[in-house]
Amino acid sequence: MGDRPVAVVILAAGMGTRMKSALPKVLHPVAGLPMINHIQKALAPLNPARTVVVTSPGQDNVREAVAPADTAVQTEALGTGHAVLAAREQLEGFEGTLLVLFGDTPLLQTETIQAMADIMEGPEDPAVAVLGFCPADPTLYGRLVTDADGRLEAIVEHRDCNEEQLKIGFCNAGIMGLDGRTALQFLDRIGNDNSKGEYYLTDIVAIARAAGRTCVTVEGDPEEVMGVDHRGKLAQAEAVAQRRLRDAAMAGGATLVLPETVYFSHDTELGRDVTVEPNVVFGPGVKVHDNVRIRAFSHLEGAEVHPEAEIGPYGRLRPGAEVRAGGKIGNFVEVKKAVIEEGAKVNHLTYIGDARVGAKANIGAGTITCNYDGFFKYHTDIGAGAFIGSNTALVAPVKIGDGAIIGAGSTIASDVPADQLALTRADQAGKDGWAARFRKVQSEKKAKK
Ligand code: UD1
Ligand code: MG
Repeated sequence: MGDRPVAVVILAAGMGTRMKSALPKVLHPVAGLPMINHIQKALAPLNPARTVVVTSPGQDNVREAVAPADTAVQTEALGTGHAVLAAREQLEGFEGTLLVLFGDTPLLQTETIQAMADIMEGPEDPAVAVLGFCPADPTLYGRLVTDADGRLEAIVEHRDCNEEQLKIGFCNAGIMGLDGRTALQFLDRIGNDNSKGEYYLTDIVAIARAAGRTCVTVEGDPEEVMGVDHRGKLAQAEAVAQRRLRDAAMAGGATLVLPETVYFSHDTELGRDVTVEPNVVFGPGVKVHDNVRIRAFSHLEGAEVHPEAEIGPYGRLRPGAEVRAGGKIGNFVEVKKAVIEEGAKVNHLTYIGDARVGAKANIGAGTITCNYDGFFKYHTDIGAGAFIGSNTALVAPVKIGDGAIIGAGSTIASDVPADQLALTRADQAGKDGWAARFRKVQSEKKAKK
């Protein structure tokens, strides 16, 4: 790692028309995180001295998403060179390495950005370093024109290329390193005399060369530098991100029985010897500790699962769900904002919301915590070792004491002391032989018709 400070400008102005969306392009999520935040995440280990995100006017949602990063507004989208200059105020006087990145390349990795920063401090003392790549289809990309020594001479945009230049397969990925001491003076010399009438950032290469400075390239992986300009590319980026997350989970000691059927969030944490069965979805904010089994078709978000617990099949953990060690959440059970303490079991067809289920309690099939009156939410507290019979409605706020037993089919609206049997079931009536008589009468009636 070098020792020059790094400043970063991330270009994110414009709506990304081809996305056909009310949401700015850079806010579209990949693995549950907006693309622009992926770039920030990849940049974080470099500890940039300054980060400026360039937005269009009115994009408050972009500014909020990137906070606390600084932002600058490009009042009119006049090109990538013009966009960098929107951050002039924040860059004035900065003499380290300036990195320019695009907000729509969510797969970019720290190592690649680091390589760009490193080469800026290399023996060639370049004024510009450009990340290049060889795409399968170079249409739409700027071509990297190099000299006999492989140094960069110029970048020519696709539509401005002559026939010779169109044959070049090495293209501009859009990530650039600039020498902070000369960046602004070179940027100021960029004009807009080209087929699009835009200020091209890429022209800085020829300008630096004319000033006697060296420009260099770093070669990147086409998959990693992929820009997302439309929904098809967004889906491709998602597929790559998911593959990376699955690989990381397995490298960390989790078994994914059928990896390609598991959907991860950018922040999913899995411990060792976790087994994830097929068709599981992890929404944002899930942490799973060691030796947990997540069974097929479960859906988890904002939840924590402690060691030796088991979820599913068909388990649903919503935000604020915490299943402590050895707890069990079975099929068609939904848990929201509730702690299931050590060894407690909620095995079938149940809703537990705004609640505590004490250690080793057993919640019968079809139990519902009635936590909402249409206006407010209320808490249910179930003590350790309590037994809630099947088909019980617990009308919150209500407290069930340790070791209490609730008879099946009860509606419990008042607190139950420890070790009490509570039931609200109506008395049972029995009429001997009634069923046989009934069947006889009815079948005779039917035979006459
Ligand atoms: C750019 C490069 C091209 C490169 C390609 C890689 C230039 C002139 N061309 O072309 O050499 O091969 O990326 O994907 O730089 N932006 C602004 N303000 C503007 C214009 C763009 O902030 O006025 C931002 C966009 O939000 C986007 C990025 O800059 O994040 C790139 O703009 P885009 O229009 O996609 O450039 P390309 O035509 O793809
Ligand atoms: Mg682009």
